[in-house]
Amino acid sequence: MPRKVRVWDPFVRIFHWSVVGGFLANAIFTNPEKSLHHTIGLTVLGLVALRLVWGLIGPRHARFSDFPPNPAAAMDQMREMATGRRRIHLGHSPLGALMIYNLLLTLIAIGVTGYMQTTVAWFGVEWVEELHGAFVTWAEISVALHVLAVFTESRRLGVNLPRSMLTGYKSLPEASSGE
Ligand code: HEM
Ligand code: HEM
Repeated sequence: MPRKVRVWDPFVRIFHWSVVGGFLANAIFTNPEKSLHHTIGLTVLGLVALRLVWGLIGPRHARFSDFPPNPAAAMDQMREMATGRRRIHLGHSPLGALMIYNLLLTLIAIGVTGYMQTTVAWFGVEWVEELHGAFVTWAEISVALHVLAVFTESRRLGVNLPRSMLTGYKSLPEASSGE
């Protein structure tokens, strides 16, 4: 029997899928010159701000202290991916953690440079506009890699990671300890 472990609290799950929806809406559908784009973008920025607070006071696996940036552990994980060794992490994996910090910081940079363009001081300033676009491009590349990693790691580990972000539970295969 697979073992079910509760890992993601409702805030983390609602945060994740709202950010996905808001980011995709602004990157693909909304008109950047219209207020809908700004409202959605500022909402994403607000959600990220709340996530930063939750990273300090939230439950165990939501806390930054549960997934500190650790490049050496991320290298180990890449070696495991190459050699097929399976080590299942209950919370975020070391590579996942690095990607999460990258995504959170990039979303903040997008939000700030977007907001700047709506102020009198920075309205129409070309480098701010270009920086906003460049951060969006970086986020798109990161998201592509993030989604690819989520699906390849799900296959390698035998744990459906997207489902865990929906239900809050990781279903661990038999004979795995989970860390
Ligand atoms: C999830 C967050 C966001 C995403 C994915 C996003 C995406 C984009 C994209 C793809 C463009 C077009 C860039 C280009 O033409 O090179 C753009 C432009 C723009 N964005 Fe955002 N944006 C976000 C947040 C915001 C926020 C929070 C604001 C303001 C409060 C904002 C204001 C603008 C403005 C003013 C432009 C330029 C429009 C123009 O060309 O006149 N964005 N954004
Ligand atoms: C369909 C597309 C996506 C899927 C299936 C997906 C799936 C996941 C999964 C499974 C996790 C947890 C990873 C782990 O087990 O450690 C995660 C975390 C995360 N993802 Fe995504 N993701 C998607 C798109 C995005 C997008 C578009 C963004 C942002 C632009 C994003 C930002 C994040 C962030 C910030 C976290 C950390 C969550 C937290 O701890 O609060 N994801 N994602």
